[in-house]
Amino acid sequence: MSWNRKLPRRGFLAGSLGSALIAAPFTISRAAPTGVSGNPFTLGIASGAPREDGVVLWTRLAPRPLEGGGMPEAPVAVDWQVAEDEAFARIVARGTEQAVPALAHSVHAEVRGLRPGRPYWYRFRAGAAQSPVGRTRTAPASAGAVPRFRFAFASCQQYEQGYFAAYRDMAARELDLVIHLGDYIYEKSWGSRLVRRHEVGIPTTLPEFRDRYALYKLDDDLQAAHAAAPWLSIWDDHEVADDYADDRSYTTRDPARFLKMRAAAYQAYYEHMPLPASARPRGPSATIYERYRFGDLLDVMLLDDRQYRSAPACVNGARPGTVPDCPERTLEERTMLGRAQEAWLDTEIRSSKARWTVVAQQTLMAELDRPAEGAHRYWMDGWDGYPNARRRLLDSIATHRPRNPVVIGGDRHAFFVADLARDPARPTAPPVATEFVGTSITSEGPGAKGLRDALAANPHVKYARGDRRGYATVDLTPARCTVGFEAIDDEKRKDGTVSRLATFIVEDGAVGARQS
Ligand SMILES: [Fe+2]
Repeated sequence: MSWNRKLPRRGFLAGSLGSALIAAPFTISRAAPTGVSGNPFTLGIASGAPREDGVVLWTRLAPRPLEGGGMPEAPVAVDWQVAEDEAFARIVARGTEQAVPALAHSVHAEVRGLRPGRPYWYRFRAGAAQSPVGRTRTAPASAGAVPRFRFAFASCQQYEQGYFAAYRDMAARELDLVIHLGDYIYEKSWGSRLVRRHEVGIPTTLPEFRDRYALYKLDDDLQAAHAAAPWLSIWDDHEVADDYADDRSYTTRDPARFLKMRAAAYQAYYEHMPLPASARPRGPSATIYERYRFGDLLDVMLLDDRQYRSAPACVNGARPGTVPDCPERTLEERTMLGRAQEAWLDTEIRSSKARWTVVAQQTLMAELDRPAEGAHRYWMDGWDGYPNARRRLLDSIATHRPRNPVVIGGDRHAFFVADLARDPARPTAPPVATEFVGTSITSEGPGAKGLRDALAANPHVKYARGDRRGYATVDLTPARCTVGFEAIDDEKRKDGTVSRLATFIVEDGAVGARQS
């Protein structure tokens, strides 16, 4: 199945809304804010956290984006407008937010009072400068029958290893939603055949993290994907540091020092994403796990499996990696989500009434045994390092039986399809959920041989492919869930093109995917 690609990205970004449309101007006029010169909207615009009556609108004023933003140490008024049409003839909501230095002059406008399940267009103004126009979409009414819902999910966008052609492709589709599953930035430089550079070292302070986000968000393809649809986003490890777990990090051994860095990293993440105020960090903590409803068709549970997890097992503080099993790994109290989030998720799964329940989390949930690498070795940074936490999550699904549970993930830089068994030791028992993992936007993937061995040794894993970059699309109807693995031909080229690598279908009422 191919989706319409009706919306040229230039229509959103260049401020030119198509030759036939001339947007009505902002009717309020405001003097240029003191000390701001040049275009303050260099980092684009975004929307997110769609509810049936509203969305969060985001921008950040940054006329000199790679030098701390270039804004004065003072609040600046930012006006926003929401219209029912692309030409802004029917403006239905407007307001003013103060962009303050403490939040890097970012704006998170929580718009309410909109109608459910329809597109809206939005834009900002600061002084005389007007932002590009973005399109967003409210969630369908919670009680309403939804015939179709289309979303994409993506993760892992190491800036140096490729261009964001995947996002250009995503922006050209008519999507209801984009879900980002983490590694939106990378803190470190690595990889081969780099096409562009971070130019600076590993960020550890708030100004350094802000500049890293600014670098990524200067990419016009990423800006286009944000401007085309509302996003939900969760972080993984590289928004802070490789393979961290709660306050443990093999790169910053002192937990107090690490938490100080985590606070800066979480703060910068919030400042650069279309997140609601409920996700705003308080020191080193921030609540990003949340449930979103899309009519009677879809419930999305966003998880945070980094902030609360137990320290990696069997490595004694070293980098997790794939290591021999040890008794610590199977301790019952080991957690991936933390006690509070685990209880919250159980409640949400119990109360989910939607046709499809999507658990959106960071990494591969299916067990991946690696006999070719020696008996009983596990990747300790993923769910295999937390088998009882995984069992409790799958027990919750098996007990409460939401109609069609689907787990989505990223992190592995490879496409995976798997059946999730309640107990990996009894792989012949019927699976309780279907899993899809999307590949990376740019980050280098695993070797082919390792994946071939994994497929051979893990019959519940139906598909694994790590040689292509891209993302995944999901087309939901009451009858079926169609997942497309969308792959770039060459991520080292700015004009790389995307085509469908594989299509999988889950039928309503059945666990497990078949390739079509
Ligand atoms: Fe990654």
